[in-house]
Amino acid sequence: MTQHVALVTGGSRGIGAAIVEELVTVGAAVIVAARGLQDCERLCAQIEEAGGSARPLALDVADRSSLRAARVRIEQLAGELGPVDWLVNNAGIAISAPLLRGTTDSGEDLYERHLAVNFHGPRLLVEALLPGMLERGAGRILAIASSAGLVGYPYVSAYCASKHALLGFTRAAALEVGPKGVAFGAICPHYVDSPMLAASIANVVAKTGKSEAEARAFFASQNPGGALVQPSEVAGVARQWLESGPNGAVIELDGARQHLRQ
Ligand SMILES: NC(=O)c1ccc[n+]([C@@H]2O[C@H](COP(=O)([O-])OP(=O)(O)OC[C@H]3O[C@@H](n4cnc5c(N)ncnc54)[C@H](OP(=O)(O)O)[C@@H]3O)[C@@H](O)[C@H]2O)c1
Repeated sequence: MTQHVALVTGGSRGIGAAIVEELVTVGAAVIVAARGLQDCERLCAQIEEAGGSARPLALDVADRSSLRAARVRIEQLAGELGPVDWLVNNAGIAISAPLLRGTTDSGEDLYERHLAVNFHGPRLLVEALLPGMLERGAGRILAIASSAGLVGYPYVSAYCASKHALLGFTRAAALEVGPKGVAFGAICPHYVDSPMLAASIANVVAKTGKSEAEARAFFASQNPGGALVQPSEVAGVARQWLESGPNGAVIELDGARQHLRQ
């Protein structure tokens, strides 16, 4: 079996951790990246104890100096594991706010923040890893986007804008680079049962007085399939696409079904 080397950003919890665990089952060595190094180390230790191969990486995708340091570390790890041939741009944030409140209480611009994490981070990692993939004539780059990259939702305009940017970039890259041997694809889940959603549920509970079960049921009812998407489902689809999915695939997960768009 050819051993793939995957880099999964935001791999320490939620959807990213499920993808890490799924890729280990097909023999990939996985670099688990997030800002919280200890969380990455904990997951990697579990994987190594179970006989898999995983390495932690401290990385803030919104910070250029962190990206530079990570690039050096990825090159060191290539000597040990081989070069990264599967990049999963999964790290992301979602902060809700009314359209005209574009800054947080601390004065941070919400649009700049979302674009930095959800778009420029993935784009800069592509710029770092794509030249090597093109030289080798092989590589796969998967974006964990969102249904918010396909349609708009109220109160998350910055999130929607950043995910539309990520999806547009992915579609253009697939057309330009796919014929040269590096495939691009995206997964667009509706609401997923992850720590990110748990934070949204806690927010609804605090603001509306609804119970946690009611808030969870509300989010599930918003998915066209009527149920929350599970991280393991996203992970299974990610693994399938990385192994053999078509270039330019945009896969929507609605809580019940998968829809393949281009
Ligand atoms: N949950 C949903 O309903 C849903 C639906 C559709 C799409 N998505 C997308 O799926 C992806 C994963 O979401 P999730 O629900 O698993 O989120 P999550 O539970 O909040 O986990 C986010 C992961 O990203 C990391 N991260 C956050 N900011 C980062 C940064 N600046 N640099 C590097 N890593 C960072 C976090 O670790 P640290 O905090 O330690 O950095 C963590 O590992 C996101 O792109 C999200 O937009 C989620």
